[in-house]
Amino acid sequence: MESLIYNRHHPFLATIKERYNLTREESIKNTQHVVLDIKGSGLTYKVGDSLGIFPINPQDIVNKTLLAMRAQGSELIISKHTGKSMSLRDFLTTKANVTDLSKKFLSIIAQGQPNQKKRETLEAVLAEGAQEKFKAYLQSHELWDILEENHEVVFSLQELCNMLMPLLPRLYSISSSMSAVGEEVHLTVGVLKYHTNGYQRVGVCTHYLCETVPLHQPVVPIYIQPHHGFTLPSHSDTPIIMIGPGTGVAPFRAFMQERMAKEAQGKNWLFFGECNRATDFYYADYWTSLERQGKLRLDVAFSRDQQEKIYVQHRMLMQGADLYRWINEGAYIYVCGDAARMAKDVESALHEIIQVHGKKSEAEAKALVKHLRNEKRYLRDIY
Ligand SMILES: Cc1cc2nc3c(=O)[nH]c(=O)nc-3n(C[C@H](O)[C@H](O)[C@H](O)COP(=O)(O)OP(=O)(O)OC[C@H]3O[C@@H](n4cnc5c(N)ncnc54)[C@H](O)[C@@H]3O)c2cc1C
Ligand SMILES: NC(=O)c1ccc[n+]([C@@H]2O[C@H](COP(=O)([O-])OP(=O)(O)OC[C@H]3O[C@@H](n4cnc5c(N)ncnc54)[C@H](OP(=O)(O)O)[C@@H]3O)[C@@H](O)[C@H]2O)c1
Repeated sequence: MESLIYNRHHPFLATIKERYNLTREESIKNTQHVVLDIKGSGLTYKVGDSLGIFPINPQDIVNKTLLAMRAQGSELIISKHTGKSMSLRDFLTTKANVTDLSKKFLSIIAQGQPNQKKRETLEAVLAEGAQEKFKAYLQSHELWDILEENHEVVFSLQELCNMLMPLLPRLYSISSSMSAVGEEVHLTVGVLKYHTNGYQRVGVCTHYLCETVPLHQPVVPIYIQPHHGFTLPSHSDTPIIMIGPGTGVAPFRAFMQERMAKEAQGKNWLFFGECNRATDFYYADYWTSLERQGKLRLDVAFSRDQQEKIYVQHRMLMQGADLYRWINEGAYIYVCGDAARMAKDVESALHEIIQVHGKKSEAEAKALVKHLRNEKRYLRDIY
């Protein structure tokens, strides 16, 4: 019998077994724990790997897009990527990126826009050096808003479909170890919702995964995305320092499950941060139980529990002397989560800790962090 190998080009249809909130009702956020069943897939993963998920677009957005296209949905079009004929509704649901648009698409709309005021608005967004304006425009518009606002520009349905970018899979850090959970994949998903241009918008994949996929049905197309070095040290007695605010904590649950299952002797230290302790302390019972057993050193930073912001890097600085000692003892340092702000600030904190506690100059501290990075002892999975 031919054995099936599932991958990005041939995804496995997984079942959501369980899904529950990690944040409490009163939280300003919604983060969910999602458990996928991969029994029968033959798929295996290592701690530090991510899961690729192919979402479908929300039906509400597809309906708005069809309306803006003045189409029914049953019209047949040809997908330029597969060359196959399909209904417009299926194409918009499963193949097209209808929430994010390219600069090229906007330029074509601008060029075809006969209304001077509207054309000038688009030209300002597209102007050289107007990256921030362009970003803000994209965040406040999906395909349907743009088509409605620019209804004077007319394309055939096929032309329009040809201009859309493909709907791509999203990655999620796996928050479990197979040594602990067997043929399951656990995820820690921050559900994205925001309000722009007068509408409540949702993140395509987080909405799909946390709000629309029915439980207990094999319908979620997935593949394993192997890590590129972001995994536990090969020696189980090597100390590790894990810095993971928000959903960045996901891989560290996997790391600890693996270390506990293998009875690893290495010391473990987690820095976790979120908005409020009472509503957003993901996996609190697990971390505090490990802490009580002396298996984990835990430092938490709840940014909105007091007037001034307290972030993970502030906790790191407070524990600077110990942190520097752990680095000297050969600890690996892992950072996961927000790339835009947190990862940079955490790196600056590392520089400061090395300067203060290692009595080094700024240049020497930077060189040491660079060295740790080259040695693959300072590892980041940031997004
Ligand atoms: C290696 C890797 C690991 C990851 N691991 C995790 C994980 O463990 N958990 C997790 O939750 N995520 C993780 N992510 C992020 C995840 O892949 C998705 O990017 C995220 O879930 C959003 O996807 P979405 O389809 O729901 O949103 P999309 O539909 O892709 O929407 C995202 C877009 O929404 C817009 N947007 C977002 N916020 C706002 C705002 N406040 N105002 C206006 N516009 C906004 C931005 O334009 C943004 O580009 C990871 C990413 C990578 C690359
Ligand atoms: N596009 C956006 O506007 C946007 C907004 C938020 C998150 N995200 C993305 O969503 C993902 C993770 O989000 P998440 O909600 O799980 O976590 P998160 O937004 O990273 O928040 C987790 C914790 O980190 C704090 N934080 C904010 N700025 C920080 C900094 N510079 N250094 C250290 N900590 C900082 C937050 O505090 P405060 O919130 O109280 O400041 C919060 O307590 C990331 O990919 C992130 O980039 C995008």
